[in-house]
Amino acid sequence: SALWGLMMCLLCSLLHAENLLVLTVATKQTEGFRRFRRSAQFFNYKIQVLGLDEEWKGGDDKKPAGGGQKVRLLKSALKQHADKEDLIILFTESYDVLFASGPTELLKKFKQAKSKVVFSAENYIYPDRKLEAKYPPVRDGKRFLGSGGFIGYAPNLKKLVEEWKGKDDDSDQLFYTKIFLDPEKRVCVVKLFLCLDHRSRIFQNLNGALDEVVLKFENARVRARNLLYDTLPVIIHGNGPTKLQLNYLGNYIPQIWTFETGCTVCDEGLRSLTGIKALPMILIGIFIEQPTPFLSQFFLRLRNLHYPKQRIQIFIHNHHSKEYLAMKVIGPDDEMENAEARNLGMDLCRKDPDCDYYFSLDAEVVLKNTETLRILIEQNKSVIAPLVSRHEKLWSNFWGALSPDGYYARSEDYVDIVQRRRVGLWNVPYISSVYMVKGKVLRSELDEGDLFHGGKLDADMAFCHNVRNQGVFMYLTNRHQFGHILSLENYQTSHLHNDLWQIFSNPEDWREKYIHENYTAALKGKLVEMPCPDVYWFPIFTDTACDELVEEMEHYGKWSTGDNTDSRIQGGYENVPTIDIHMNQIGFEREWYKFLLDYIAPITEKLYPGYYTKTQFELAFVVRYKPDEQPSLMPHHDASTFTINIALNRVGIDYEGGGCRFLRYNCSIRAPRKGWTLMHPGRLTHYHEGLPTTKGTRYIAVSFIDP
Ligand SMILES: *[C@@H]1O[C@H](CO)[C@@H](O)[C@H](O)[C@H]1NC(C)=O
Ligand SMILES: *[C@@H]1O[C@H](CO)[C@@H](O)[C@H](O)[C@H]1NC(C)=O
Ligand SMILES: *[C@@H]1O[C@H](CO)[C@@H](O)[C@H](O)[C@H]1NC(C)=O
Repeated sequence: SALWGLMMCLLCSLLHAENLLVLTVATKQTEGFRRFRRSAQFFNYKIQVLGLDEEWKGGDDKKPAGGGQKVRLLKSALKQHADKEDLIILFTESYDVLFASGPTELLKKFKQAKSKVVFSAENYIYPDRKLEAKYPPVRDGKRFLGSGGFIGYAPNLKKLVEEWKGKDDDSDQLFYTKIFLDPEKRVCVVKLFLCLDHRSRIFQNLNGALDEVVLKFENARVRARNLLYDTLPVIIHGNGPTKLQLNYLGNYIPQIWTFETGCTVCDEGLRSLTGIKALPMILIGIFIEQPTPFLSQFFLRLRNLHYPKQRIQIFIHNHHSKEYLAMKVIGPDDEMENAEARNLGMDLCRKDPDCDYYFSLDAEVVLKNTETLRILIEQNKSVIAPLVSRHEKLWSNFWGALSPDGYYARSEDYVDIVQRRRVGLWNVPYISSVYMVKGKVLRSELDEGDLFHGGKLDADMAFCHNVRNQGVFMYLTNRHQFGHILSLENYQTSHLHNDLWQIFSNPEDWREKYIHENYTAALKGKLVEMPCPDVYWFPIFTDTACDELVEEMEHYGKWSTGDNTDSRIQGGYENVPTIDIHMNQIGFEREWYKFLLDYIAPITEKLYPGYYTKTQFELAFVVRYKPDEQPSLMPHHDASTFTINIALNRVGIDYEGGGCRFLRYNCSIRAPRKGWTLMHPGRLTHYHEGLPTTKGTRYIAVSFIDP
C-alpha cells in the first residue's frame, strides 16, 4: 500500500502539473525571454506566450509605469479558460524572470496560501505613493503589491481583469493595486480572496531585496534562499534596477550546476563546427592603443591561430607601433581616437553581410589558445569573451558586478572565476580586451553604429553599457585556458629593444621570448655538456635574445677602447682589457641581475651542489672581438667564483675563429654555439684565454659572479 500511496502521489502531482498553465507576455524573443523559457522547460512548466511579435505599446524606460498591454492580453487569453474551475494560472513577466523550482512546489505553496489569487509583494510602493496609507499593515514581510507575478484560479483571474478598460500604456500595477486596496472587491464582491506573498515563499522580487537573497548550493542543485524570511522562492524577478543581479543568479539557477563544469542546462546548445566546410567569416579588429611590449609575439600568435586564413579579415588600429605598416592599418598618422577606431572596426563587420563574427583583440592580450576562435563560435552567444587575466593576479578582462555608479564591483564569485575554481559560461556586466560579437547581432540588436561612445565613459565601459541597454547578454567563458594580459605599467620605450627590460613587469613573456626552449631540459640536467673539466655548457638564450642584446650594444656604441682604464680590472687579478660595453652603461644591470637570479642561480646549484650563489656581480658586459680591433684575449684568471660566457652569434656565419682555451687542461672549445653559455670556475683552476677571431665580428656576454 506504500507503493499505492506513492503512485497516487505521483499521479496527483502529474494532475497538478496538468492543471497549471503559465501565461507570460513577450513581444520579442529577447535573450532574457529565452532564458526564462529554458528555465520553464527545465522544470516542465507548460507555458503560453502572449503577444509575441506584437508591437509593444506598454511603455518604455521613459514611461516606466505602463504595462497595460499585459492586462489586455491576459484578459483576452483568459476568455478561453474561464470555465476551467480547477485550472491554476501563473501570470509572470519573462524578460527578467527565472524559475528556481518546479510546478509541484509552486502548487503546494499556492494551496497553502488558501487564497484564490496570490500576488508577489515588494518593499516599494509603486507607482502611486499616496496609496500607502490604504495598505493593510503587515507584521512581518513585504507590504506592497507587485504585478510582475501572480497566481490564481482561472475563473478568479478572469474576474480580476474583467474590469480592465485601460490603455496599453496605463499602469497594470496601479490597476491591480486598486482592486487589492478595495476591501469590498478584495473579499466580498468578487470573492477573490486576494492576498500578497509577503514572505517571498513563491515570488522573489529582487528590487530593494538584494541583501535578502543568497545562493544556496546543495550537491548539484542551486536555490536562491531568502535569508530574511528563511524561504526558498520559486520565481525570481529581477525587477527595476536589479536585472544584473538576476543575470548573476541566472549563472547558477535553475541549472544542474557543478564547480568543475559549470551549468549543464543553461546553454542554448553548442554549435559544432566539425564537418562544416566553409567556416564562418571572421573580422578581427586589432587595437594597439598604447605602447605595448612583445608585439612581434602578438602577431606571431595571431598567425598561428588555428582557423583558415581565407575566412579571416583583419583591421588594425595602430596608435603606437610603427613596426607593422605592411598590413592595412589605421596608423598613428591618421590620428583616430580609440572609440572612433573601435566603432569603425565593428562597422566593417556590421556592414558586410558575409561577416559572421567580429573578434576584437587588444594588443596586450596574450592569446595562447590557438583554438580560441572555434571555441568561442561554438558557444553560440551574441557576445562572448574568453577569460584572460594578469599572471597570478586578480586583474582580468571582466567584472562580475557593477557599483551603483556603474564602475567595477567585485562579485562574490569573481576570484573563483578568475582562478578557475568555478568554470562555466558567465553572464557578466562588463568585458573588455578580447571578445567576439555575432555579425547578425551587430545588424539587429546592436545596429546602432556608435556603441563605443556614451557620456563621459571610456570606450570599453560605453560599449558594455550600450550592449546591456539593448538587452544583449555578455558572456565570459573560463571553460578553457585562453591566455593572459600583459602588464603595461613600466613599459618604457626609450631603448632600441624595449622588451629586454620587461623581465620584471612581464616575466613569463620575457622568458618565452628570450630564454632558450631547451633551458628547462638543461635545468633537469639533460643537454648539459662538459667540454672541458668542470666547464659546463648549456642553452640559455634564444636567437632573439642574442640578436637584441648585440643590437642594443651596437646602438649604444660606446665600446671601451681596450686600454687600462677598463673598470673591470681595477682591483682585479689580471691586466686584460677587452673591447666591451657594460650592462650598467645601457641601464640594464637590474634586469641582468634578475636574469642571473632567475635562470643562472638554479642551474648553478644543480651543477655545483653545495654552492649557493647570490649571483652578485660587479662585472657584466658584452665583449666584441674583431681581427683588426681586438681579435683575442691573453691568458688570465677571472675575478669571480664562477663565470658565465654566452655566445651571442654564430661561428662560421658571423665570424671565424674564436673560442676559449683552458690552459691547465690544454682543452679548447672552438665552436661556441649561439645562445649557449659556458660556465666555469673563475679563479685558481680555470686559467684561460680567448682564441683569435680571424674574420667577422664575434660577441659574447660575460659575467663574473660572486667576485
Ligand atoms: C544558437 O543560438 C540561437 C539563438 O541565438 C538559436 O536560435 C540556435 O538554435 C542556436 N544554435 C544551436 C546549434 O544551438
Ligand atoms: C632543443 O632540443 C631538441 C632535442 O635535443 C632539439 O631537437 C631542438 O632543436 C632544440 N631546440 C633548439 C632551439 O635548439
Ligand atoms: C695540447 O693539445 C693539443 C691537441 O689538442 C696537442 O697537440 C698538444 O701537444 C697539447 N699540449 C700539451 C702541452 O699537452
